[in-house]
Amino acid sequence: MPKAQKSGTATLQLPEKTVELPIYVGTEGERAIDIGALRKESGYITIDPGFVNSGACESDITFVDGEKGILRHRGYDIEELAENCLFLEVAYLLVHGKLPNRSEMQSFSRLMNRNSMLHEDMINFFNNYPEGAHPMAVLSAMVVSLSSFYPEIERESEGADLDMTVTRLLSKLRTIAAFSYKKSIGEPFVYPSHKFTYCENFLNMMFSSPVNDYRPDPLAVRALNLFLVLHADHEQNCSTSVVRFVGSAGSNLYASIAAAICALWGPLHGGANEAVIKMLEQIRQEGGNVARVIERAKSRDTSFRLMGFGHRVYKTYDPRAKIAKRACRQLLDKMGMGGDPLLEIAMELEERALKDDYFVSRHLYPNVDFYTGIAYRAMGIPTSMFTVLFALGRLPGWIAHWLEQHGGEVKKIGRPRQVYTGPVRRAFVPLDERE
Ligand code: SDX
Repeated sequence: MPKAQKSGTATLQLPEKTVELPIYVGTEGERAIDIGALRKESGYITIDPGFVNSGACESDITFVDGEKGILRHRGYDIEELAENCLFLEVAYLLVHGKLPNRSEMQSFSRLMNRNSMLHEDMINFFNNYPEGAHPMAVLSAMVVSLSSFYPEIERESEGADLDMTVTRLLSKLRTIAAFSYKKSIGEPFVYPSHKFTYCENFLNMMFSSPVNDYRPDPLAVRALNLFLVLHADHEQNCSTSVVRFVGSAGSNLYASIAAAICALWGPLHGGANEAVIKMLEQIRQEGGNVARVIERAKSRDTSFRLMGFGHRVYKTYDPRAKIAKRACRQLLDKMGMGGDPLLEIAMELEERALKDDYFVSRHLYPNVDFYTGIAYRAMGIPTSMFTVLFALGRLPGWIAHWLEQHGGEVKKIGRPRQVYTGPVRRAFVPLDERE
């Protein structure tokens, strides 16, 4: 392992022999047994469905302590970043490894602005989607199409060129997202404007039209900025692992991100924020019986789960959920929506679950998706766009991981082993002799 510190060895006692495996320790004390030589030394492999106990890589980008509820990006606590930073500052931090100074921030913003429009030929793509197309399908297809409009990215592998490849995507994904919404409601596209900041531009492209004098609400701008910061990165989650996997094959950045968007779409991952609102609305329509929903979520007889609850890594309250809950309540209070029925149901769900042994014993707490959708809904953002906003927020994290792997010392294609459990060798049977 190129950077973690070696710290002793682990002795593995196998039926046939004993194998010594090196132990490494990361800067925050994460300890790992390096099994890189295991099969060569012993003929054994390990198996760990869902990679619950297996590390895929070293990384300098994000640290999560699931037991203590700690999340840091490049050493900065999420609470401080959420309180003090614009989303573009956090995007710069993740991609470049440092918070930008004023001059770096100004040139980054200028580059973002210059790259915010789409090639006019791409606009035609939107016109050929059926109206009900899910925006995540459009987002993924448009991102991979960017590599056709900018084929030079195959050569832009470092320095200023790579910066351009990165910034172009960071800026255009926001435009693609807003255009996919306009397409879904049959309204004309609203182009990005140099007059607006990142979040103002997105809201303007979403809600402005030739027949209304729309001005982005500062409350909504601030809330959107916060939620994008909360989603910016989360170490080796499913979609980020997809970025690294696809990138490990030598695929370009845009192709790797397009694959990650598809992974994020799943209801067990980024699609959960959309699923939370659907769950809360169904509870409300069925009379608001929260106790019954809690019992359903505990039952093994159904696949129903409490969406927005539980996490592979956090075994305590997701720090992002704490911040999102507070921001959601403040936003709704300021918008005169403090009595929002879905917020009331969500808070009762949380209160009951956190007193119920089923959830407590399994360390199931609200995660980042539990409250964000309620805030987005209050901002007028349609449910179908919630996961798109997750993707907008997560994009700098995905890019940072792609760059880290792309520029890393270890350049191995991702190719796990398996334990084969199918039929052993058997004689071939010609077609006419088969039963
Ligand atoms: C994100 O990885 C990341 O970092 C992801 C993310 C990011 O920033 O990238 O944080 C974003 O994806 C957040 C998670 C969003 N998904 C949901 O909210 C969907 C609902 N949650 C679950 O499906 C589940 O909690 C997962 C998928 C999030 C985690 O699943 P795990 O780690 O594989 O846990 P598990 O399925 O093995 O569950 C352990 C036990 C099981 O019960 P038993 O078999 O022990 O009896 O907990 C139960 C599960 O049935 N359980 C739940 C539950 N989540 C787990 N029971 C009811 N409701 C739930 N939500």
